[in-house]
Amino acid sequence: MPDITFILPDGSALCFEAPDSVSLMQAATGYGVPGIIAECGGSAQCATCHVIVDPDWASRLPAPRPDEEALLACTAAPRSPTSRLSCQIRLEAPLQGLVVHVPDRQY
Ligand code: FES
Repeated sequence: MPDITFILPDGSALCFEAPDSVSLMQAATGYGVPGIIAECGGSAQCATCHVIVDPDWASRLPAPRPDEEALLACTAAPRSPTSRLSCQIRLEAPLQGLVVHVPDRQY
């Protein structure tokens, strides 16, 4: 059960323990993190689950697959070098302490 932190656009932080083996998006929507819309339910088709992974964590995640990479070109907020779709990040023990930033818009 990894502890994860979402930094909201106003700088406030939401830290909570996520269930094992769910996606980062599922953890966020289950907890009610504002700004994670996840309109397509996790099928990598909407980009409304966009997050910006803290630079300290970015290299510890598997690289995005080609379909995620393509959709990251469609995010409402500007894409950053560490942008990811939270529905494509599976939470497992090595991600204990993961920190991500919620962009200021998803539409
Ligand atoms: S929930 Fe739609 S792309 Fe992630």
